[in-house]
Amino acid sequence: EKGGWPSFMAKEVAEQPDAVANTIRGRVQGDQVVIPELDGLDELFIGIDRVIITACGTASYAALVGKYAIEQWARVPVDVELAHEFRYRDPVIGDKTLVISISQSGETMDTLMAVKYARERGARTLSVCNTQGATIPRESDAVVYTHAGPEVAVASTKAFSAQITALLLLGLHMGRVRGSLSDSAASDVAELQALPEKIAQVLAEEQEHVAQLAGWMADTRSVLFLGRHVGYPIALEGALKLKEISYIHAEGFAAGELKHGPIALIEPGQPVFVIVPSPRHSALVHSKVVSNIQEIRARGARVIVIAEEGDAAVLPFADEVIRIPLTGAMFEPVLAVVPLQIFAMALATAKGLDVDQPRNLAKSVTVE
Ligand code: M6R
Repeated sequence: EKGGWPSFMAKEVAEQPDAVANTIRGRVQGDQVVIPELDGLDELFIGIDRVIITACGTASYAALVGKYAIEQWARVPVDVELAHEFRYRDPVIGDKTLVISISQSGETMDTLMAVKYARERGARTLSVCNTQGATIPRESDAVVYTHAGPEVAVASTKAFSAQITALLLLGLHMGRVRGSLSDSAASDVAELQALPEKIAQVLAEEQEHVAQLAGWMADTRSVLFLGRHVGYPIALEGALKLKEISYIHAEGFAAGELKHGPIALIEPGQPVFVIVPSPRHSALVHSKVVSNIQEIRARGARVIVIAEEGDAAVLPFADEVIRIPLTGAMFEPVLAVVPLQIFAMALATAKGLDVDQPRNLAKSVTVE
């Protein structure tokens, strides 16, 4: 039931603080992450020399965030591969490879077939899934459930933030087991636990602002999204949300790619969302993104920036600034995606579209 919300999507966007809190619950002990479901798998996590994360659509963008987090904390190489690409080639995998699959439904045929394929090739398999007892977790050696609750809208929102949360938990769990966490791990765990409240803050403070932005963009034919580091997958996700429910051409890029091609698209009035990483984590990465903003602004782009509170460096070059609270570097995606979800929803609504049932799409893609 929509419980008074205009759409399931609106309800599910609003439920994200709970989706994330429920995914964390029971998995933190003191200042450490301990995922009870993974009890007994220490040998596995210590013995692997490689991780491949496989998924489709939005789940594959959560996977990209997972790559950064697991490499950072567990110091094991991670590749992300779309499930439908993975199984149609001859990947180098074996019993030291952990294949992590991510699926909200747990029934996506492409992802299921990738998991089966990985198992046949001798890899160890772990699934991150939102649906208890679904086929993909049943076909996997281990499962870490996301506890986002049932997601009804075709466009994934709360399942996505819960997937990222589960991967952050997994990265911290694996890092602890492998002995590769740095001294700052305890503060990362604290940041993780503070996420639900900070998501609630973004919802409370930016909802109206972002919805207004969408109002003046209802006639827009194309929107671009730029990000770096863990902001890059969020750029991809922002673009996918817009395509799915607003039927507007949208593309997400790694900001560093701009000068390798996409900057040719920039003409006066072109709306571009830029996800700006905190200068507190890396002054260098931040300054690179600020110069990307300058480059597109000089060519007339209409720049909408998502930046942390207090980041004044973006002000001279931004047409609009959406603020997110301060958090750890790996946690920014969970906050930055929220305004993009609201934007897509508001734009679809401004165009009179049904946000829950976009044309041509099914909630769960159970055919190849
Ligand atoms: O159920 P899954 O997480 O396996 O679904 C994967 C994709 O089909 C899904 O994320 C799709 O991209 C959504 N419609 C995104 O909003």
